[in-house]
Order: sequence, then C-alpha cells, then structure tokens
Amino acid sequence: MTEIKFPKGFLWGAATAAHQVEGNQNNNWSRWEPTVAKHFAQTASKRLESKVPDWGLIKAEAEDPDNYISGRAVDHYSRYEEDFDILGQLNLSAYRFSIEWSRIEPEPGKYNEQEIAHYRQVITALRKRGIEPFVSLHHFTNPAWLDRQGGWHDKKVIERFAAYAEKLASSFGDSVKYWSTINEPTAYIFMRYLDGVIWPGWPLQENNFIRAQAAKKNFRNAHKLAYEKIKAVNPEAQVGIDHGIVWFEAANFMAKVLPPLLTKLGGAPYLNAYKEHLDYVGLHYYMRNALKFIARPPFVDYEVKNDGPMNDGGFEVYPEGIYLVSQEVKKLNKPMYITENGLPDARDKLRADFIEEHLRWLHKSIEDGADIRGYFHWSLLDNLEWSEGYWQKFGLIEVDRKTMKRTVRPSAKVYGQIAKHNGFNYPER
Ligand code: GCO
Repeated sequence: MTEIKFPKGFLWGAATAAHQVEGNQNNNWSRWEPTVAKHFAQTASKRLESKVPDWGLIKAEAEDPDNYISGRAVDHYSRYEEDFDILGQLNLSAYRFSIEWSRIEPEPGKYNEQEIAHYRQVITALRKRGIEPFVSLHHFTNPAWLDRQGGWHDKKVIERFAAYAEKLASSFGDSVKYWSTINEPTAYIFMRYLDGVIWPGWPLQENNFIRAQAAKKNFRNAHKLAYEKIKAVNPEAQVGIDHGIVWFEAANFMAKVLPPLLTKLGGAPYLNAYKEHLDYVGLHYYMRNALKFIARPPFVDYEVKNDGPMNDGGFEVYPEGIYLVSQEVKKLNKPMYITENGLPDARDKLRADFIEEHLRWLHKSIEDGADIRGYFHWSLLDNLEWSEGYWQKFGLIEVDRKTMKRTVRPSAKVYGQIAKHNGFNYPER
C-alpha cells in the first residue's frame, strides 16, 4: 500500500454538459437528431459490432432510433437539486456544467431573463452546498440561428459569443469564479469541418479545410474577446478553455513520424495561441492511440493498436496517458484542472480501478511539477454521448430514463471516499 495524498485545497468534482443532460433543447443538435436517428439505428451493428467488447449488452439500445434523440435527456434541468444532493453526499467540492447558449439567446441579441434566472438558481444551489461551480459557455451545441448565420467559420461569431459571455458574467457577478469559454475547439473543428472518423456524425459535417482554418481562428479570437469581457466585469474571475488531448504513440517503426505530428496539431502546442489569455487550462484525457503502419500492398495503411482492458465503447483504458498529457501541458506554465476523464462502463466493472489508476498517475504528475489543482470525473450522470446516443454509460450515477430514477454506482462511492480523504491508499496491483 502506498499512501497518495493530494495538495491541500485540491478540488474533487464531476462534469456534465447541457445538451447531454438537461433535456428539452431547441438547438442545432436537437434539430439534427431526428434527421439521422433512423440511419444511426439501422447502421449500429455495422459500426459497432466488431468494435465494442459486448455487443449483446448494448444491441437493443443501439438499434433503437430513440437512443439517438436527446429528448428529455436525464431531466437534469428540473432535477438539479436532487443531483447536487448526491454530489454533496459524495463529498465532491466542485461541479462543471455548461450553459446552453440557445436558451439564453434564443434569437440574436434577445436574451431570455427567465433562463438566466434558472442558471442563477443552479449556481445558488451549488453554493448552498459548498460546491464550486465551473461554468462552460460553449459545449458543442449552437443556437440554430448561429448555424444559419454561418456558424463558427464566420467572423460574426466572435462578437456574438463575446456579448453572450459578457451578459452572463454581468448577470452572475462574483458568484461564478471559474469560467470556461469553449469546450474542445479541436474536437469541434475536426468533427464539424474535417469529417468524423471517431464519431459517426456531427450536424452539418463537411470536409472543408478552408472553413476549418477560419473556425480555428474564430474560436481563438472569440475566446480572447470573451476573456476580456468577463475580466472587465469580474477581475477576480479565472477564465480558461477546455482542451482534449489524445496521447498518440507509434506502435511500430514505420509509424514513428505520425505521432509527433498529431501531437503538434492537436496537443499542447495548440494552446500556445491562447496562452496570453488563459488563467488556467481545463484538460481532458480519455485515451491513447498507438498507431501502427501496416503494409497493404500496393499501399501502406495504419491501424490503431491498443493493449489494455477495453471499455464498453471499445477503447483501451490507459491510465499512464493522463501523466503524459499533463506533463505536456505543464510546459505552458499555467494552473491545470482535469476537467474530463472517464469511461463508458454500464456494469461498473472497470470504473473504480480506472479512477484510482488515473489518480495515481495524476499524483505523480503533480510530484513531477505539474500545477494540477482539481479533477472532474466525466460524468456525474449517464447522458447522451452525442451521436452515439444513450447506450454509453459514463455516469457515476446511473439513470433509468423511463423513471428518471438515480442510482449511485459503487465506483462513485469509492470516488467519494477519495474526495473525502483527499487521497487514498493505493494497493499495488
Ligand atoms: C467533451 C466531450 C464530452 C463527451 C465525453 C465522453 O468534449 O467535453 O465530448 O462531451 O461526452 O468526452 O466521450
């Protein structure tokens, strides 16, 4: 047994995003879902059967078109008090969630004060329980009008987004300290503009390199302007972005050149352009991709080679990666929070060990100089995994979507104890 203790004041949290948990959305995603649900259901076995470890477990859900419609989600919009009670029982001290832009600004320039009041109540409900809110302003979804105006590849988004950020900063004052402007801009750019291979779908997906470049620039400038607006309202605010890094490795000699290139494109160096306007980095880590070039005459091709245990989605569990990516981001010299890390695991077979193993590597990263100040498990609740729908169960809390009943998974209790003691005794495995 090794005793692992985290620094004093380390934040223990869980994360969600509005579209994935709230229910009853009217945004670009909710409008897109009914146009693809049937197709996703019909092609599920082709996409998934050879990839996921237990097709039998998910077949019924993955082949049901309803799985792909966000609908009532897990009704977090009305049940947040109940969910925060559980957060409290689990001894968690922070909660990361996103505000749905389409609720706040249903038409350009027209703000919905009732919805602002709703989120004010959410923040108050957290504060009452001593839980620190981490508020994200954009987590993948757009108001439908924004897409009609051209979306993120059109410069107009910069002013629009910054005005929305300013409106919320002035509405919430100092009740929110931690703001994240944009969630995973690289994932957005890749999925929307450079075609999806990781997930099967994204609204308005296209291959358009020029638009991808424009969106990249606009995300950066929208972030900068929003950063300035929020700081002008509340100089004490800590403003960051959330960035996901996949750890790429070469699994054979032929593949040596690709991983450094991919790390440069999507990894820590990407954050350099944001550096002057970042109080912290929200870092997401899920997986490693070990790339292997294979000869497939007359061409060469590559495949992804993974060795560890597989989660329900068919992705390898690779805890050391959280060390490797946080050591990369350390080079920026900014405080870091792990704002997402988790896995789909319906039977809760891997999650407790997953958490301990990742935390052990995270702790080592802190010992080796990374200024990591908190960890948010993805996710607090089972939720809509974007175009995969509901069959992937990421929740510390299981949700029965028919009754909306919440059940705390055993691994959540393990995590809760770690939070309570600010550490744990690591059993040598
Ligand atoms: C994000 C992620 C989440 C996902 C999670 C699990 O960018 O923040 O996409 O919304 O649900 O990464 O895959």
